[in-house]
Amino acid sequence: MNEQNWWRGAAIYQIYPRSFQDSNGDGIGDLAGITARMPYLAQLGIDAIWISPFFKSPMLDFGYDVSDYRQVDPIFGDLGDFDRMIAAAHQHGLKVLIDQVISHTSDQHAWFKESRGSRDNPKQDWYVWVDPQADGSPPNNWQSIFGGSAWQWDTRRCQYYLHNFLSSQPDLNFHHPEVQDAVLDATRFWLERGVDGFRLDTVNFYFHDQALRSNPPQPAGQYAVGVPRNNPYALQVHVYDKTRPENLAFLQRFRALTDAYPGIATIGEIGDDNQYRTLAAYTAGNDKLHMAYTFNLLAEQCSPRFIHGVLDEFQRETAGAWACWSLGNHDVPRVVSRWQELGDSPLLPAVLLAMLGSLRGSICLYQGEELALAEAVIPYEQIQDPYGKTMWPDFAGRDGCRTPMPWQADGLHAGFSSGAPWLPIPAAHLPCAADRAEADPQSTLHRYRHFLRWRKQQPALIHGEMELLAPSDQVVAMIRRDEAQTVLCLFNLSNAAAIYALPAGMSFQALGGHGFHSEIDGGQVTLPPYQAFFGTPG
Ligand code: BGC
Repeated sequence: MNEQNWWRGAAIYQIYPRSFQDSNGDGIGDLAGITARMPYLAQLGIDAIWISPFFKSPMLDFGYDVSDYRQVDPIFGDLGDFDRMIAAAHQHGLKVLIDQVISHTSDQHAWFKESRGSRDNPKQDWYVWVDPQADGSPPNNWQSIFGGSAWQWDTRRCQYYLHNFLSSQPDLNFHHPEVQDAVLDATRFWLERGVDGFRLDTVNFYFHDQALRSNPPQPAGQYAVGVPRNNPYALQVHVYDKTRPENLAFLQRFRALTDAYPGIATIGEIGDDNQYRTLAAYTAGNDKLHMAYTFNLLAEQCSPRFIHGVLDEFQRETAGAWACWSLGNHDVPRVVSRWQELGDSPLLPAVLLAMLGSLRGSICLYQGEELALAEAVIPYEQIQDPYGKTMWPDFAGRDGCRTPMPWQADGLHAGFSSGAPWLPIPAAHLPCAADRAEADPQSTLHRYRHFLRWRKQQPALIHGEMELLAPSDQVVAMIRRDEAQTVLCLFNLSNAAAIYALPAGMSFQALGGHGFHSEIDGGQVTLPPYQAFFGTPG
């Protein structure tokens, strides 16, 4: 793999900095904490880290509301801490991706403060300002993902402004060339500081319909993806408030900027009803995004047939787009709880990693998955996530996957911080702490390290094509192929032994070294519960 294409097939570890490692005792993780844990990260066998936002922010959406794109928020440290962190990552051979949240800013950003000041200031149309209708109501039916109208009344301008998330996250007006220039300048700032790429938050939300047409309702019985059904956002087809055609030209501008620096990778977060069509469009032509982050395996469903269906549709509908797959992130319940239908065996996380790592595309691992952490239950009084506060009790928000990392089972606050952590660390996470996992050769942590290292040596798994084989009730099956190698990959996601019959005429022999055990006998593979099989032709 050359330096330019390092991201193809990369294993990227997502760090939620508030909860990774605190270094100064304020109960909130920080950049110096990440630096201190760099040997742990390098030892995992990953290629890169993606750090969720650490920029200056009032933290109403925990950093996804940026008030200064060029500053580190003091709770996370300063630019010197960033420079030391990235230097340490590079010394350990790890790339660093940062999270660019440019669709919206915080209402505390200087741009918004100026924009809301009057109707005739130089930034007056940097955000989406609209007069009320004659009866005072908002211009159209657009909804915020966090619940309720996407329009917030502002008494200074006596106009509404658009926000797709919190009302304190006003939407930038990308139709304005100066806005595009300003966010590209902010991006250049971090390129100059040595980052290796970007995760682009809500990349399909940059533009809105300038005619402000109302979205049509969903057909009866259908719901928009990615939000709970009791959220009115789910009741619309989002044709006018996002995924507008103008975005393609902006993504080309973004790519032209990143192409001026060697080896930069971009991953776009695309939340859309027509996800496949959008991610094919956003990654086509090698002049826009490098990778599209897919939500499809972040679903509640988890059977082998469901997973096969997702992969099959992806292959058919995206014309070869390069995906970035993940089973968890800071917005969804942790995978071992979300997919508890698959059983609660300690063997499950490793086979899920092996399956993920065998898909065509790159992969994102979310911090704590390597410790097999389950979703935490946060009592109402301790909920921090604004989304959870609005939608509780039907939806408790995203805190359950954001609790601090348990580093030491018997340490003060599990070794995360010397001060009280910003979210409680569940007692159930203590036996999973990194020090316990380190001491147990059978732990998920060791199996992750082992598998990720083995995977790096299998060119077909890193960048080969993927041919899906028929699934069974228990097994997900595929063949990965490049010029040098062909690998049959089978995963038993069930708690019972599975027998998988290979298609007629296929003959394979077991490939070892990955840490799983299954047996092949002629055209038949026997997989014990939660085991994988890898084979080469022969
Ligand atoms: C991030 C969320 C955030 C939202 C608004 C996303 O999709 O992953 O955590 O709340 O964008 O920025």
